Amino acid sequence: KKSQAWSALFSEPMSDLVKRYTASVFFDKRLWRADIQGSLAHADMLNAQGLISADDLASIQKGMAQITQEIESGQFEWKLDLEDVHLNIEARLTTLVGDAGKRLHTGRSRNDQVATDVRLWLRGEVDELGVLLTALQKALVDVAEQNADTILPGFTHLQVAQPVAFGHHLLAYVEMFARDAERLVDLRKRINRLPLGSAALAGTSYPLDRERVARSLGMVDEAGRPAVSQNSLDAVSDRDFAIEFTAAASLVMVHISRLSEELILWMSQSFGFIDLADRFCTGSSIMPQKKNPDVPELARGKTGRVVGHLMGLITLMKGQPLAYNKDNQEDKEPLFDTVDTLKDTLRIFAEMAAGITVKPEAMERAARKGYATATDLADYLVKKGLPFRDAHEVVAHAVKDAIAAGVDLSELPLDKLQTYNPAIEQDVFEVLSLRGSLNARNLLGGTAPEQVRAQVARHRTRLG
Ligand code: ARG
Repeated sequence: KKSQAWSALFSEPMSDLVKRYTASVFFDKRLWRADIQGSLAHADMLNAQGLISADDLASIQKGMAQITQEIESGQFEWKLDLEDVHLNIEARLTTLVGDAGKRLHTGRSRNDQVATDVRLWLRGEVDELGVLLTALQKALVDVAEQNADTILPGFTHLQVAQPVAFGHHLLAYVEMFARDAERLVDLRKRINRLPLGSAALAGTSYPLDRERVARSLGMVDEAGRPAVSQNSLDAVSDRDFAIEFTAAASLVMVHISRLSEELILWMSQSFGFIDLADRFCTGSSIMPQKKNPDVPELARGKTGRVVGHLMGLITLMKGQPLAYNKDNQEDKEPLFDTVDTLKDTLRIFAEMAAGITVKPEAMERAARKGYATATDLADYLVKKGLPFRDAHEVVAHAVKDAIAAGVDLSELPLDKLQTYNPAIEQDVFEVLSLRGSLNARNLLGGTAPEQVRAQVARHRTRLG
């Protein structure tokens, strides 16, 4: 009894170890819906082209409907002997409908079939990720809006630099996630192209209507024209769409990881800027006082895994001769894991963002400690006519004296301040205040609360 599609040529059965080594069904069965969708589009086209009868098409449709129901209800029996999702479904179809099932593979190879399946599947996932990225951005915009006036010490080199609005800081992440979403929209165009019709590598002698298949699978360009691959060798062997996706996914995770690092720092007692809701934290089995930010820590860690998948896929491609090689079967687990990791992470971050408790007093206290308005004093002197470099030097002296005296610049009396430069007047105290510093940066992209509110409004319109 034949157990493999090609077994007439083989004089001995495959060894069990090799069977297990080469089989992909236990992970690629996840592509089943795309596989059936592709097969139905192919069968419909075969019939339209007179390559299979209307009866055969009807049998294939009926069989696939039953297989769908069997898989959905968990009754479908996946067989390792049948190697992958494609052969499992095709074998079951043939059991159910006989010769019509055997005609389905006319003008098709698993090479163009699997390339089509992965693209269909990934296209759907990219769309879901777009929705999740929007939800996360909205959650961050909400917190930003509530904190358009909240003063946070802005850091460079993790040293207090200048005060910024906490809302402004959060909107920086919204910008990152907005670009991530743009990248997904762009790369989706390159995912959404049809390999079917390329057959094993050279195309096929059957008069297939590739554009019809593309249209029925929704593989169309922005103008609504069918998007069909133009070179059969490239179509069956290219996985750069998957590499591009994991690269974009890696950037999403890098952004998540940067945010995670800040959440972790901010929640640390030494900062005490925020608290995360208990449901996102865990305790310690030994230290009763502990509440740990496990979720952002794990997200930071999982970034390594997604970046690893990018490295895996790009290395997988390197050095492969044209056209299809079995190496490409290794594209699936990294892709699946990337999608799973990203979806969970984005969902959890959208929820977690909504549960952040902000501690404005602690943020402001920290900003006051770091001479965060020193630049404002220099700018003040520039407005009084000093060249900026001289003003910078004058203020450095003032900061040095203030540090020695253990006070903030704004706590130095006016007559003391005037010893640094006689142009300094009473209005300097508004300039030296954190809020004055914030309000002064009222230009596009700046941290003034008015600008933050304008950005919040822009994001809301953009996000819908
Ligand atoms: N399971 C295979 C993969 O994922 C399907 C294509 C196999 N083609 C072949 N000629 N062995 O790449």
